[in-house]
Formats: sequence, structure tokens, C-alpha cells
Amino acid sequence: MATLRLGDTAPDFTAVTSEGTLNFYDYLGDGWGILFSHPADFTPVCTTELGTAAKFKGEFDKRNVKMMALSVDGADSHKEWIKDINETQHTQVNFPIIADEDRKVSDLYDMIHPNANDTLTVRSVFIIGPDKKVKLILTYPASTGRNFYELLRVVDSLQLTANHKVATPANWEHGQKVVVSPAIPTEEAKGIFTKGVEEIKPYLRLTPDPTA
Ligand code: BEZ
Repeated sequence: MATLRLGDTAPDFTAVTSEGTLNFYDYLGDGWGILFSHPADFTPVCTTELGTAAKFKGEFDKRNVKMMALSVDGADSHKEWIKDINETQHTQVNFPIIADEDRKVSDLYDMIHPNANDTLTVRSVFIIGPDKKVKLILTYPASTGRNFYELLRVVDSLQLTANHKVATPANWEHGQKVVVSPAIPTEEAKGIFTKGVEEIKPYLRLTPDPTA
């Protein structure tokens, strides 16, 4: 399988998970999805990440995003590990973890990077839109836990820019000014963005977040 790139169709699969056998597309329905991989069960950084993801579920739900995690350990191992996550992270894991023992999903999504580790997945993140296209790919090494505030921030940007002719500047967060799409001339932009358009340079125009 060729490396997945932005705009590609996210491969569908059916997999054994900590919540039974699930089909990925059926699980996502018409909403957004985050698929993220972990190197292994019963490891410290992964334990904090899955606990954090569980605590963020309410925020992802508000944005119509479903989470699915993956590691190459088995479903029984996942179920035992979830008890530890719940205990140590003071939460309840509330999304499925794929038991990818045969590496089928890891291979589909190119989550094993042999020069980092021959057998374990790296920390991959795929954000998938309602059209089942890949909207974002992030890859972290095993030694670096992910920032779930950043994942929420990216979802906010993806959902905003899917519906409005804007882009989001560096460090943008929901409610802050956004950039008018370069394809729109300033005079036309003034008609579209009725909250105002500030022209700093002909190519750099700001407007208030149209959804705030
Ligand atoms: C961890 O999740 O803590 C971890 C997993 C694999 C290698 C290093 C750290």
C-alpha cells in the first residue's frame, strides 16, 4: 500500500477492538474521525494519552468526531490495560482500541516505521472528514506524548475552513481572527465577510472568526 497523503480516501477496515468487532466506516457514520496508534499496551506515555483522550471525549463529541485508538496487542490485553488506565488516570476509556495483532490496520495506514521500530507502531494521528478523506496526518515518536488540545484546535480549524473561505493563522484558536482565502480579492471579501476585512497586505487580510 502506498503511503497515505492528505486528500486520499481513508482505507476502510473491519477489526477486533476492545469493544468487539467494528467496521471503521460504520463506526464513523457521517461524522468526523480520529484514528491514532500507540506503540504498546501497559506503557507509561500511552497510558497518559488514552486517559487524556477519554477526558477529551466530550469536546470531540461536540464537534461530531469519533475516536478510535490502535495498538498491536490483543483485545484481552487491551481490556486489562483499560482497567489500569481508568484507575491511574481517573477516567473511563470511552472509545474502542483496535487489537491489531496481525498489523492489518497498521499496514493500511503505514503506522509501523521500521527505522524507528521494526514491530511496534509509532504515534500516528489521522483526522478523517465526513467524506472519508484524510484531512490531517501527524506522526510522533514513541517517546513523545501527543497534545490533545492541539488535536481539538486542528479539528476546529478543519471544520471552519471546510465551510468558510478562510484559513487559520499560526497558533490560531477558535474565536480569533482568521485569514481570508488568498483566492478572494479584497473587494469581494468585504461583501462576503460582513464583520469586516482588515487588509495588512494585499495577500494578508484578516477577518473575525465567522463562527464566533
Ligand atoms: C510509552 O508509551 O511510554 C512508550 C512506549 C514505547 C516506547 C517508549 C515509551
